[in-house]
Amino acid sequence: MKSKIHINLKRVVDNSYDLVIGTSLKEAAGEILRLYPNRRKFVITDSHVKKLYGGKFLGALRRTGEEAHLLAVPAGERSKNRNTKGDLEDRLLKVRAGRDSLIIALGGGVVGDLAGFVAATLHRGIPFVQIPTSLLAQVDSSVGGKVAVDHPLGKNLIGAFYQPDRVFIDLSLLKTLSPREFRNGIAEVIKYAVILDAGLFKLLESSSPLVLARDNDILLKIVQRCCDLKRQIVEKDERELDLRRILNFGHTIGHALELLSNFRILHGEAVSIGMLAEARIAEWKGMMTHREVARLDRLLRQYGLPTAIPRRTDFGKLLLMTSRDKKSIDGDVRYTLPVAIGSAAAGVRLTAAQVRSLLQGGPS
Ligand code: GLY
Repeated sequence: MKSKIHINLKRVVDNSYDLVIGTSLKEAAGEILRLYPNRRKFVITDSHVKKLYGGKFLGALRRTGEEAHLLAVPAGERSKNRNTKGDLEDRLLKVRAGRDSLIIALGGGVVGDLAGFVAATLHRGIPFVQIPTSLLAQVDSSVGGKVAVDHPLGKNLIGAFYQPDRVFIDLSLLKTLSPREFRNGIAEVIKYAVILDAGLFKLLESSSPLVLARDNDILLKIVQRCCDLKRQIVEKDERELDLRRILNFGHTIGHALELLSNFRILHGEAVSIGMLAEARIAEWKGMMTHREVARLDRLLRQYGLPTAIPRRTDFGKLLLMTSRDKKSIDGDVRYTLPVAIGSAAAGVRLTAAQVRSLLQGGPS
């Protein structure tokens, strides 16, 4: 005889958390000790950040005699894979990191994505906090709970939505970024301006000397604004069913370029090239004016970001990569395209043939 048991899992979940902007590493350590007095603390970082801040941060966490460990992975996007995740899990399990633990992601986007994904799956989920150390991570990747590793077939193909418990943003950490790393983050700031905030776009146009000099006040303003824009999107669409897709502007072509270059092109650089290519597609589709595309081109150059698809790029491979994007349907890719400076539309479906002819020579 057949029978049916219904498991009712409808529930209200509260994943709310604070982004604490303008704190210091020392204050963050103090807050972590106060908020998680009985948790064993595991700081996941990379070799580069470890050298700069690892000892100081670990010392601050151990100040009251509490147990804290630091685990570093090699710096760079090539570490964001299943092997490194497995290696971190082995190391954590060996030192008996249990459900009573806390993971602290101290690093840029790679560390945040990797450590967050480890936290999401270790013992089916343990709490984690983010301390983003790069501009890119402070304005984008540490906020909103996307955690993942890359696969040779595509970026971020294996991952989860797993929100941090808290994000601590120390702007002084931006001072030690190389100019290239700093510009890398500016690309994501420009993305926010194009898709959501014409005022921010104007501010970036008029203040590049201050921004590039890493003036504290302007950085505070920019980081606060980007985090607040992201908050508004994530609150409405945490799981990227709809609205959150606009944050992928520049990323469909950008991710493909990043992978094709075997990560020689950094994420923000690839997004910069991707944004201009996708804005040109928007222009050819009659969605954005030539004047506005030229403004975007100028702004990217003003910040020393690349805008041209590298000459030796294999377009066949590039398009194949974009069709493996998580957002593709039957091989047609859904793009986020700008409609003006300050607004964008997600879900614009284009065939590979259309994109190829647009990228290689404009509309046919
Ligand atoms: N970085 C895009 C997002 O978090 O949705």
